[in-house]
This record gives sequence, structure tokens and C-alpha cells, in this order.
Amino acid sequence: MNVIINQGLLFDEELSKEIKELFYHVDEDPILNKKRIFFDNAGGSLRLKKANNTFKKFDELPDCPEHSNYTAKWLLEVQEKAYKDIRTIFNAKSGSIVTSLTASMVIFEITRAIIENVPGTNVVTTALEHPSAYDSVVFYAKKMGKEVRVANTNPITGGVDVNEIAKLVDKDTCLLSFIYASNISGAILDVESIVNECRKINPNLYIIVDSVQHMPHGVVDLERTPVDGINFAPYKFFGTRGFGVGYMSERAAKLPHNKLIAKPAEEWELGSPAPSQFASISEIVNYVCWLGSKFNNSKDRRELYVEGMNRISLHERALMYRMLNGSDKIEGLRNIQGVKVYLDYEELSKRDLIMAIGFENIDCVSAVAEYEKRGIITFERIASSLYSKRMLDSFGIQGVVRISPIHCHDINDIDQFLNITKEISSL
Ligand SMILES: Cc1ncc(COP(=O)(O)O)c(C=O)c1O
Repeated sequence: MNVIINQGLLFDEELSKEIKELFYHVDEDPILNKKRIFFDNAGGSLRLKKANNTFKKFDELPDCPEHSNYTAKWLLEVQEKAYKDIRTIFNAKSGSIVTSLTASMVIFEITRAIIENVPGTNVVTTALEHPSAYDSVVFYAKKMGKEVRVANTNPITGGVDVNEIAKLVDKDTCLLSFIYASNISGAILDVESIVNECRKINPNLYIIVDSVQHMPHGVVDLERTPVDGINFAPYKFFGTRGFGVGYMSERAAKLPHNKLIAKPAEEWELGSPAPSQFASISEIVNYVCWLGSKFNNSKDRRELYVEGMNRISLHERALMYRMLNGSDKIEGLRNIQGVKVYLDYEELSKRDLIMAIGFENIDCVSAVAEYEKRGIITFERIASSLYSKRMLDSFGIQGVVRISPIHCHDINDIDQFLNITKEISSL
């Protein structure tokens, strides 16, 4: 069992093949009409065919979900079902669902409502945040004259330690905002301990979590770790662009915010969200439950969803293990001369499948270009980018090549990547 926990467990070959077929363009670039391996899923994930096809099917309909004709009512039912599915994703039994065009817009609005309305003289966040979480904290804290306290990262784990956050929280903390898993190191923060420890210090503490990067890789459970706001982006979770999804606790949802006056106090939807986006989310949940049903015969949708996500985590961990350690036939990243794996924490169960590497012979931008020439898409995260600077500076790193496969990939994809990495390291 311990071996599985640290080394993961691959899907069998047949299931891996079946999964690949359910996604668009896993093995080719349809624009260049060339074979490729897409390892930039942290920037936008491979698309589940059904999520995209369903989006199109629903977007063809002009009917307004709040009107009285048959198809309009049917659209409303589809939307209501998707709200339930979003609750299944979060395991949220109460509170409100909030959607917007992007996950950044969602987190800005949640942060704003809390900082503008909850008493407290300071706000705590971490150096590992995406700018959408970090800047919203800084912007609204400044507006309200509140102090911003920033927890340091841990250069060994690539995450942020529970103590580093807890020591900044006190009775006057209005909000704690932190990331679930890093979009640079892949480190998963110990959300449960952070929530418990910080609420021991300040039982009424409002907490927001950015789960954009973690959502496609593992389970989120708000019953276990109740927070006041959390978000994700469907386009990084097998779905479509143009939508951001969030959850707010009952008390946070009732805080003053932009809404139509006649609507209930906890209503966060403003205007007419697209039924196609909701229908597409239900397809993502259907898919993860379908995966779960291969291993579990429960009839409960959340149980199947959790099983599916846990299987995704295990498969991805096995890919990560192979990527780091290779096999008898092929060298892993840890052994290829001239390659460095940054923030390479031993406990793989605490990492999502996002890896940061560098080359001795070549800079990150050139390495990404060399990978592309050889049919592998990666991405450079460099300190000159506003999306990476604070996190990289906190680790004392100039730049990395970010490698982010997902569970649609298999061992052969990893081995091809390793062969090409070796080639690039000896250019
Ligand atoms: C961790 C994290 N949070 C938030 C976002 C923002 O998501 P969106 O592009 O939907 O605003 C990203 C996007 O890269 C991200 O990686």
C-alpha cells in the first residue's frame, strides 16, 4: 500500500486507450497537422470531447432558461443539474455557487466582499499565490487600510508550511487567502491543517482557497475543510474556456455584493450565465464518475466522483514517478546529466503532476523551443513574467521549464519525453 501511495498506480492499457479517445487532440496538433505531446495542461487542459460537443449543442439554442416554453424550461433543468454537479465537485452541502467569465474574476469578487465587509485589521496570504488571489488581496486591503501579511514558501517542498501561515494569523485577521496546489511546483498545501490551525487561533476566520490548479488532479472536500470561498477554471479541468466557477459559504455569500436588489441576499449570479457552460460542467462530472465506476459500484454521484479523482491522482503519480526515476531502460529526470528538477520533494502524494526543471546547457526559453521542435509542448515560467516572479523569487529560482501532463497521458508519452529531454541536455 505504501508503495502505491508514493509510486501511484497506472490505469491498465485498455483504460488508458479508452481515456485518450475521449479527449480531443491528445496526440496531434490539428493546426500544424503534426504529432505532438501536450505537456502544458497547467496552462489549459486537453479537452474532453463531450464537454466541448455538449457546449456547442446547447449554445445553438436561443431559448432563455427563465422563460416558459418547453425548451427554455428544459435548459433551466440542465442548469439546475449542473449547479448540483458543481456542489458534487466541491462536496458543498450549503452556501452559494458563483460563476463568472474567469476564475480570476470570481476570486476578485469574493476577496472584495470579505475584505470590504468583515472586521479585522490584517489579511494573510502567501508568496505562492497566482496574481489573481494575491493582487485582489493587496488591492482591497490597501483600499480598506488593512495590513497584508505574506507567508514564505518552503524551497524543499515547493509549498508553504502550515506554521508559516498560522504564525501570521491572529484575532484581527479579516481574511486568509491561499492556494491549494502550486501552478509552478505542483506542491499540494496541507489545506486541512491550515484551516484547522488557523481557526484555532481565530475561530471566525474567513478563508479563501484558489483550487484552480488542483481541481483536475485531486479531490476537494468542503465538508472536511470548510472554507468561505473557493474557485476553479473549467478550461484547466478538461472543459471549455470562458467560465470561472466558485463556491461561497452562507455567511460569505450574504456579505454585500453586486446583485439585483430583488434577488435573495445570498444570490451571486448576475445576469444570464450560459446554459452551455453549465451543461459542459455536467459532462466533466459524468466523465470523472464514469472513471470512478470502473473501480467502484456505488450509485452515489459524489462517491463515484471521489473514486474517479483518486484514480486520476494515482495514475498521475505513477507518471510522475516514472518521469523522475525512469526505468531499467530509460533514465529519469533525476538521473539525466545536465538536468535539474527543482523543488523535487520526495513525497509524491503531496505533489500534483506539475514539474519544474532546468538545463545546464540551455536557458528555459530555448529549452521550451527545443521541446517544441521535437513535438513536445511545455512552458517556461520565468522571473520576468508577472505570473511567475513572486513565486520564483521566493524560491530563489530564475526560471524553470514547466512540464504539466495529465491523466490522459501514458507511460509511452513519458518515455518519449525523457528521451527528448536527454537529447536536449546534450545539445
Ligand atoms: C493557480 C491559478 N489560479 C488562478 C488562475 C486564473 O484562472 P483564470 O485564467 O480562469 O482567471 C490560474 C491561471 O493560470 C492559476 O493557475
